[in-house]
Amino acid sequence: MESVTEQRKKKILSCIQPSGIPTLGNYLGALKNWPPLAEEFDGAFAVADLHAITVRQEPAKLRRQTAEVLALLLAIGLDPDKTIIFVQSQVPAHAQLAWVLNCFTQFGEMSRMTQFKDKSAAHADNVNVGLFAYPVLMAADILLYQADLVPVGADQKQHLEIARDIANRFNGIYGDVFTIPDAYIGKSGERVMSLQNPEKKMSKSDPNPKGTISIFDAPEVIMKKVKSAVTDSEAKVRFAEGKDGINNLMGIYSCCTGLSMEEIEREFDGKGYGDFKVRVGEAVVEELRPVRERYERIISDKAYLKEVAEKGAEAASGIADRTLKKVMKKVGFWIP
Ligand code: TRP
Repeated sequence: MESVTEQRKKKILSCIQPSGIPTLGNYLGALKNWPPLAEEFDGAFAVADLHAITVRQEPAKLRRQTAEVLALLLAIGLDPDKTIIFVQSQVPAHAQLAWVLNCFTQFGEMSRMTQFKDKSAAHADNVNVGLFAYPVLMAADILLYQADLVPVGADQKQHLEIARDIANRFNGIYGDVFTIPDAYIGKSGERVMSLQNPEKKMSKSDPNPKGTISIFDAPEVIMKKVKSAVTDSEAKVRFAEGKDGINNLMGIYSCCTGLSMEEIEREFDGKGYGDFKVRVGEAVVEELRPVRERYERIISDKAYLKEVAEKGAEAASGIADRTLKKVMKKVGFWIP
């Protein structure tokens, strides 16, 4: 029998920037977990195109990549009938709330953000105010939906902390307006390292393409990259300090097969790295195959994508506008 007092599901929100095809690392570390999270919680997921323009974008490319990442969110298995899936720029409340929150955020706080320091060094010719205020926009994304949980990687932890600080500050002045979000730390979010330089995180901006597997790499490309992954001279598949290359491949294999490190060590006992790499490559190919196949179907159906985006923006606006209105009243905007 259904419980009469069914508890409200916690809300979870995350966003992904439309800056190129995500990597196997993005997939295993984050995206793969989103569909089960959307089942367990009340979910909203967005393509963060407003964030993308903090570095210069080519318009046609940004437009194409936004549609591609939206298609990817569907391809990984998020269900637009159960979960809000939208494009950030299509919900004006994000930019509106971000402005208000800018006025509740200190210059000093933003100056301390490590990602700002890194990005302003990397884009020294375009250290714009949007790049500086990027975490405030991210806070607006989260707070508009009154999200309880935000799944974030290590690189976004500091931004979530700031979102909490801004929310607490605002609530301290105006009463309970915002839910204070917590980081959602996944069970087995895998940290995938570069295949060529396993001390470094796998990244789509890696200048050496051999170190990175893209979600949409063809099977033969995946096999080739895995086979040329850096290992060590011990020739024994075991998880141990100093074996970064093998540890990384074991982590990837574990994530794709669900096997524990001990089970993997047993499976490859007495076998060489050659056999191991073939199995890892095959496991990655099988892991990504359904995503790629669904993606190819979805990206070619522009009418469907448009429909999903419109429905998502409408649902997202419904929630976001309620929070925005409350904020506007609190700060004293005249709403005639
Ligand atoms: N800044 C995040 C990233 O680059 C993307 C993002 C934007 C986000 N808004 C968010 C993540 C809100 C979580 C919640 O990865």
